[in-house]
Order: sequence, then C-alpha cells, then structure tokens
Amino acid sequence: MKGVVLAGGLGTRLYPLTYATNKHLLPVYDRPMIFYPIKTLTDAGIDEILVVVGGPYSGHFIRVLKNGKGLGVKHLEFAYQQDEGGISDAISLAEDFADKGPVTVILGDNCTDADIKKPVTDFTEGAMIFIKKVNDPQRFGVPTFDKDRKITKITEKPKKPDSDYAVTGLYIYDFTAFNKIKNLKPSARGELEVTDLNNAYLKEGKLSWSKLNGFWSDAGTFDSLFQVNKYWASKKK
Ligand code: DAU
Repeated sequence: MKGVVLAGGLGTRLYPLTYATNKHLLPVYDRPMIFYPIKTLTDAGIDEILVVVGGPYSGHFIRVLKNGKGLGVKHLEFAYQQDEGGISDAISLAEDFADKGPVTVILGDNCTDADIKKPVTDFTEGAMIFIKKVNDPQRFGVPTFDKDRKITKITEKPKKPDSDYAVTGLYIYDFTAFNKIKNLKPSARGELEVTDLNNAYLKEGKLSWSKLNGFWSDAGTFDSLFQVNKYWASKKK
C-alpha cells in the first residue's frame, strides 16, 4: 500500500495566515500541520508517500519535509497540482506513483490520532471511506443511510444534512479510481469532487465504510485550526 497526502489548494479560508506560506505548513502545536497526516500513514505501515503540492509556496514543503527520512518515510515524492482543480484532480496526479496498486489518500489538513493499520492491511478492492459524527455536517461530505445502515449516497456540503456524520478526508482506493476520475465533471464550484469519486464507487456497489475512532478534525478554518491546536497541546502535556 502506498500513501498520498494532498496539500494543494490556496487555503483562502485562512487568509491572512496563508498570505506567506502554505496552509499545511502552519503550526499545529509543536509541528507543521502536514506532519500529522504523514504520521497517520507511517503509523499504518505506509512508508512510500507522494505529497501533492500546489500554489505559490509549494517550494516550502521541501525545506520542511526534506527527504522524509526524519518522519519515517522511506520514499518521498512530490507532485505539483497546477491550479486548484479539486481533490479528485489532485488524486489523479498519483496515477503513475500508484503503479496499478491501491493507495491510501489523506487530506493534508486532516489531523487524527486514529489507527488505520487494520483497514489498510485488510484492503483488497473497491474504496473505503471513514466517517465521523460531527456537530457541523454541512461543512463536509455527508452520507445518507437507508434503514439497514447502508450508505445510499454522499452529498457534498448539504444545506440540510441527512445525517450527522462527516466523510473524513481519509480514503483507500483501488486502481480503478484513476479511470473513474477521468469520467468526473467539475461541480458547481468548478472542482472535481472527491464526493463524486466516492459516489462512483457506491454506484458499482464497491464502497465500504467504517467509523473512525479517536480524535479527527480538519484544520482548514480558524475554528477547526484552533480546536486541533488545543487538542494536540493537551494531548502532549
Ligand atoms: O475534511 C473532510 C472534507 O474535505 C470532506 O468531508 C469533503 O467531502 C471534502 O470535499 C473536503 O472538504 P473541504 O471543503 O474541507 O476541502 P478543501 O477544499 O478545504 O480541501 C481539503 C484539502 O484537500 C486541502 O487541505 C488540500 C487538498 N486539496 C484541495 C483542493 C481543492 C488539494 O490538494 N487540491 C485541491 O485542488
């Protein structure tokens, strides 16, 4: 299993903090934000990682991550996303790196202490998503369940969410993801959405899900960045 960390985008929701560097290099307590998603992957035994970067400060990542060895990464690669075409567009840059195998993808602003070693080890085909109960589901991809707790669809940032679960920014995909992305159309906000990729797997009956244990949050807004800092400050004391 190889890993992909998505750290493109401009981080406009965090202006003016992201005027001078990339969102994923901002501090979360005692280390740069991107160290957390990388640790989630290395803790799961994944040590070949592609980091997708983008925006005006993409060069800053090399100074911080170097060759990855200090973070337990044996093989570190970078890909540059031209423009902010969305999460599925960023994933498509990992096609050669994946080399026909599966990939675990994590968003660079998702900070969690969940242990995903077992689902990563057990993965065989299709796609796996991880969901988490949240107070503000309208900020996320939100699953709709039927009476047997099967997911029937996922809606990106619904005004009226069907459940109080967020689809977290942690996904395992088999190699068919890359062909599925080629068939996606940009959403109303002009992006190739990860939710549309997940719905493509759902249509084929190939999407499984599991609840994410432990702490999970994105860190892409002032409030969530503050909460994530608070959590890790208290955990490490
Ligand atoms: O955090 C989980 C949520 O992340 C999911 O519930 C949503 O379904 C998913 O769409 C995403 O929502 P956001 O609106 O929070 O995504 P955002 O645009 O903030 O992008 C999240 C990360 O993805 C960002 O930190 C870097 C990466 N990214 C994003 C875009 C749009 C890229 O690498 N390239 C991109 O073009």
